[in-house]
Amino acid sequence: MSKKDLDWANIGFTYMPTDMRYVANYKDGEWGEGTMTADSNVVINECAGILQYCQECFEGLKAYTTEDGSIVTFRPDLNADRMIDSAKRLEMPAFPKERFLEAVDEVVKANADWVPPFGSGATLYIRPYMFASGPVIGVKPSDEYQFRMFCTPVGPYFKGGAKPLTLCVSDFDRAAPHGTGHVKAGLNYAMSLHANVTAHAAGYDENVFLDPATRTYVEETGGANFLFVDKEGNIVIPKSDSILPSITRRSLVYVAEHYLGLKVTERKVALAELGDFAEAGLCGTAAVISPVGKIVNHGEEICFPSGMDEMGPVTKKLYETLTGIQMGTIEAPEGWIRKIV
Ligand code: PLP
Ligand code: COI
Repeated sequence: MSKKDLDWANIGFTYMPTDMRYVANYKDGEWGEGTMTADSNVVINECAGILQYCQECFEGLKAYTTEDGSIVTFRPDLNADRMIDSAKRLEMPAFPKERFLEAVDEVVKANADWVPPFGSGATLYIRPYMFASGPVIGVKPSDEYQFRMFCTPVGPYFKGGAKPLTLCVSDFDRAAPHGTGHVKAGLNYAMSLHANVTAHAAGYDENVFLDPATRTYVEETGGANFLFVDKEGNIVIPKSDSILPSITRRSLVYVAEHYLGLKVTERKVALAELGDFAEAGLCGTAAVISPVGKIVNHGEEICFPSGMDEMGPVTKKLYETLTGIQMGTIEAPEGWIRKIV
């Protein structure tokens, strides 16, 4: 076994099948024993609940090679918990937390040659997901489910890496009031595809989705939470019931308060006040922290003082501290790092 011969520094955020993946089936009211398989194809009934009524949820986390050559994951327990919340909201059986964590370990171990080396700029993205595999034709939850987990090496989510992004305020909503915006269900992403394609076609990197009830507050983008830095250098994060509770954002809040001594406020953030902030960033497993240089609201440009050339200073400090913790160059809070190899 030896590392795959990939151009690690130049891989994008795309799917590349690796050697092994995990699969477990739910039938007759219980989860069966999980196995590892080399088969990357899924064969299901034509009437499976996922194909008819989109009963599915997923997660996203990463494995990193640390400075001392170990392979670790970052807070996988929180992904396990969030997937249980998503499953409950979608009337699916929860996949047990301990089994989720063991599956992450197994998948990463079996694909160790695909974990990008320390310092390469790439990481191993792990995608756990669960879907209704049993047939349903009336609108109801399926009786059968499949849980799977694969991994794929990835580079930066946004082309251009750390170059500030230009976003546009979307005319479409991502989540309905009292809907599913707070859980990680594939249907939320299906909803956002048209907005995404429309924004890209108009030359923007991503959408800013507004609160679905009043369309006056900032929510999140299609795949990341917002984080703003005010003129005093403190952090403001949007509060909403319809955004995904990002593990990266929750970790950054801790890093800001406990490592950098910054004040963090979680509150509603009005679209009308964005021009008052000094820096803006998108945070998520895939996005890490991607700086935002400009937000365009129907022709009106909101330009952050940090500019279009580089990350703002506070965003940069947050980025360096978080990635330092993930890559083992900065000591992590208790329980954040799960060593696999
Ligand atoms: N918001 C959305 C809509 C996402 O898809 C993601 C990605 O998982 C996030 C936020 C960030 O969440 P996390 O930091 O847990 O990856
Ligand atoms: C992640 O960051 O893990 C996500 O699921 C976001 C997705 C848009 C790739």
